[in-house]
Amino acid sequence: MSQKRLISGITSTGKLTLGNYLGAMQQFVELQDDYEMMVFIANLHAIVLPIEAKTLKENIKSMVALYFACGLDPNKATVFLQSDILEVTNLAWILSCHTTIGELERMTQFKDKSTKVRSDNGTNFIPTGLLMYPTLMAADILLYDAQAVPVGKDQKQHIELARNIAERMNNKFGELFVVPEPIIKETGAKIMDLQDPSKKMSKSATNPKSYIGLLDDLNQVRNKIKAAITDSENLVRFDMENKPGVSNLMTIYSCITKTTIAEIEVMFANKNYGEFKNAVGDVVVNLLEGIQKKYNQLLNSQEVEMWLQQGAKKAQIIAQKKLKKVLWSTGLNYKK
Ligand code: TYM
Repeated sequence: MSQKRLISGITSTGKLTLGNYLGAMQQFVELQDDYEMMVFIANLHAIVLPIEAKTLKENIKSMVALYFACGLDPNKATVFLQSDILEVTNLAWILSCHTTIGELERMTQFKDKSTKVRSDNGTNFIPTGLLMYPTLMAADILLYDAQAVPVGKDQKQHIELARNIAERMNNKFGELFVVPEPIIKETGAKIMDLQDPSKKMSKSATNPKSYIGLLDDLNQVRNKIKAAITDSENLVRFDMENKPGVSNLMTIYSCITKTTIAEIEVMFANKNYGEFKNAVGDVVVNLLEGIQKKYNQLLNSQEVEMWLQQGAKKAQIIAQKKLKKVLWSTGLNYKK
C-alpha cells in the first residue's frame, strides 16, 4: 500500500513563533518518517493583508531555512513555495465557484481579522482575498490529494470547509477529490499568548512579550517566560480555565520534553512559579539554541535553494495531473 500523503503550510507573514512550532512544525518533523509529507510556504496567503514586497521576499528565504533548521529532512519531506505551483490559484478559482459567501463569512478567522482591520486602521478596506482565503487553502490541500493535514486548532474550521467543498464537488462531478482529515495534537494545538492567556500566541501580536519568536534573542526568551502572566496561587497545577497562564507554560514544557502534564505536576509539586519558569526557560532556550544554530548555517546556503526547487518539481507533477482531471471533469477542458 502506498504511503498516506500529508500536507500543510505556514503563512509567510513574519516571524514564526513557538506556537507555530509546537502546533504545526513539530508534527511535520515527527510525521515525515511515517508519511509522505509535503510542506509549503504559504506566500499567497501572506498577501491577504498589506505586506511590503521586500519583507515578503525575505520571509520566504528565512522560512525555508527555518523549516529545515527545525528538522524537516529534504530527503523525506517535499518542501516548496506555494506560488511556484500556479495550478493552485487556478483550482482555488474553481473551488470558489462551489463555495458560498455565507460559508466564507462564517469563518472565525475572517471575522476576527476583518474586525481587527476595521478597529486598527479605522477602514472598511477588507480585501476580497481575506474572505477567499479558505478556498485557496482548500485548493492547497485538494490539489495534492492529501489525506490528512497536520495543523493547530485554529485551522480546524478551514479544513472542515475544505472537506465540505470536496464532498460537494465529488457529488456533482464524481470522485474528484480525496476528502482530507485534520491531524491536531492533543497537547500543544493552541499555545496561548504569554501576556493574555485567553488569546492564542500569534506572530502578529503587537506586544513582543506576548510571543516567543523562534529566532528571538535567547536572553529575551528567558525574560519573556519570566514575565509571563500567571496567577497568585503559586502552585504548578493544570487548570486551563482558572489558571490559563501556568497551564500554558506546562503545555509548552510538556510538548518540548515529552513529559505528560501529570508528570509535570508531580515534578514541580514543591516548587514555586519562579523555579518552574526557570525550568521552562531552560527547555525553550535549549530547543531554540539548536534551531538557531542550524538556521544560521542554512540561511544563505545554496542547498536550501536547491531543495526548494526540487520540492517545487515534485509538487508540480502532482498538481498538473490533478488540475487536468479537474478541468476535464468540470468541462473547462474539452481535450482529455
Ligand atoms: P498560520 O501561518 O497562521 O499558522 C501555521 C500553523 O501553525 C499553527 N499555529 C499554532 N498552533 C498552536 N498554537 C498557536 N498559538 C498557533 N499559531 C499558529 C496553525 O494552526 C497552523 O497549523 N492558513 C494557514 C496556512 C495554510 C495551510 C494551508 C495550512 C495555507 N494553506 C493548507 C494547512 C493546509 C495559516 O495561516 O497558518
